[in-house]
Amino acid sequence: MSSVLVVHATKYGSTRQVAQAIAKRLSSAGFDVDVRAAADSGDVSKYSAVVLGTALYFFMWRGDAHRFVRRNRAALTSVPLALFGLGPIEDKAEQWAGARANLEKGLAKHPWLKPSAITVFGGRVEPSALRFPDNNPAFRGMTPTDLRDFQAIDAWADTLPEALGIG
Ligand SMILES: Cc1cc2nc3c(=O)[nH]c(=O)nc-3n(C[C@H](O)[C@H](O)[C@H](O)COP(=O)(O)O)c2cc1C
Repeated sequence: MSSVLVVHATKYGSTRQVAQAIAKRLSSAGFDVDVRAAADSGDVSKYSAVVLGTALYFFMWRGDAHRFVRRNRAALTSVPLALFGLGPIEDKAEQWAGARANLEKGLAKHPWLKPSAITVFGGRVEPSALRFPDNNPAFRGMTPTDLRDFQAIDAWADTLPEALGIG
């Protein structure tokens, strides 16, 4: 059976929940799936494919996502990878375009890495949970927001077996 590792780089947990939703969907489709934090990914080379998700903060990937990619360079030259980023917290075209551009800017730091699929999902902010330095007035004063669309997340997960060549 094909096995998939779904890796998340999160700060407040919303990216982990998206990773878990993708894993559940792949698991229902018959794949053997593990979900791990990027900092604790284990041996990547034993999987048929990898899905990597990173939250975007201040226009950048989480550092753990970059370290995951660097640490696993040898394995990721042969194991196919799909990449997702979170995520706009306002449903505005420029936010979606900016998030996509920032996801790709992070990817450009690893020119050898060629994802088979790339997407951006909306993000979640719970202002009361933010810690320093994220709890500045601009974010602390926000209304709690969750732009994650779990139907769209499931739909993307359904495209992955074919995109990753494990279907
Ligand atoms: C301080 C702060 C900075 C953020 N910067 C960005 C950003 O540059 N681009 C973006 O698309 N989303 C940005 N976001 C939205 C987060 O990516 C979104 O809240 C995401 O769901 C957080 O994921 P996590 O819960 O896994 O940490 C920011 C959120 C906060 C609180």
